[in-house]
Amino acid sequence: MTPADLVGVVELHKVCFEGYFLTALGDAAIGALYSRAVDDPKSVACVLQDDSERILGLAVGTLNPAFHTGLLRRSFPAFAGGVVRGLFTEATVRKGIGERLGFVSKIFVARADDTLERSGITPSQFPEARFLDVAVHPDCRGGRHAERLVEFFAGEVFRAGAGRLGGSVKPRNLGSLILYKRLGWNVQKTGPDRVDVWVDREE
Ligand SMILES: CC(C)(COP(=O)(O)OP(=O)(O)OC[C@H]1O[C@@H](n2cnc3c(N)ncnc32)[C@H](O)[C@@H]1OP(=O)(O)O)[C@@H](O)C(=O)NCCC(=O)NCCS
Repeated sequence: MTPADLVGVVELHKVCFEGYFLTALGDAAIGALYSRAVDDPKSVACVLQDDSERILGLAVGTLNPAFHTGLLRRSFPAFAGGVVRGLFTEATVRKGIGERLGFVSKIFVARADDTLERSGITPSQFPEARFLDVAVHPDCRGGRHAERLVEFFAGEVFRAGAGRLGGSVKPRNLGSLILYKRLGWNVQKTGPDRVDVWVDREE
């Protein structure tokens, strides 16, 4: 992913993540997330393109535990604007803000997600990366494009120094669960509405 891809990436995000909190915050907030992923040396951002360079898929992850706090500090106006507008116009934003109130007090403090550790899963002895978003345009799904994209992306993440790549998905997200099972990743339910998936770098 390069800065030149950002317009296409934002359009793809809106198609693939309709109804999500970030999507409801608007183009400026969505663009800020991917722009940070492109600029941050500890993050990896890949796109899947067709022959005419139309963006059909994306995979973004980070080795940086301060990714989100840095994003909010750097792009506060984009997020504040999205929240203020969304509070009046978007039910998703009103609901999302309610759910995230507990996070607000910690918003300016870097913190790692320790769900795996709390679930008794042995931590990797090397740095751990989290994937943030993986998506393929609905017109292109089911063709194993997502498998190829995620395999390429994981290779880049491991080359960047990670020993483990993981993330969480909703149990109802069947497409994702099938994808990670097929790729041979570990898949474990870690909460009532959360499944963790992860893969370790082969030595
Ligand atoms: C997750 C995602 C990238 C998977 O893409 P994909 O194109 O379906 O993945 P693949 O082509 O590798 O194949 C997955 C398989 O699961 C199947 N599948 C997908 N959704 C399914 C469902 N609801 N029920 C049954 N099978 C399903 C596909 O048909 C495909 O099987 P096939 O190859 O035999 O046709 C895509 O669904 C997507 O972009 N979702 C929206 C964004 C998202 O939720 N991302 C994950 C969280 S970050």
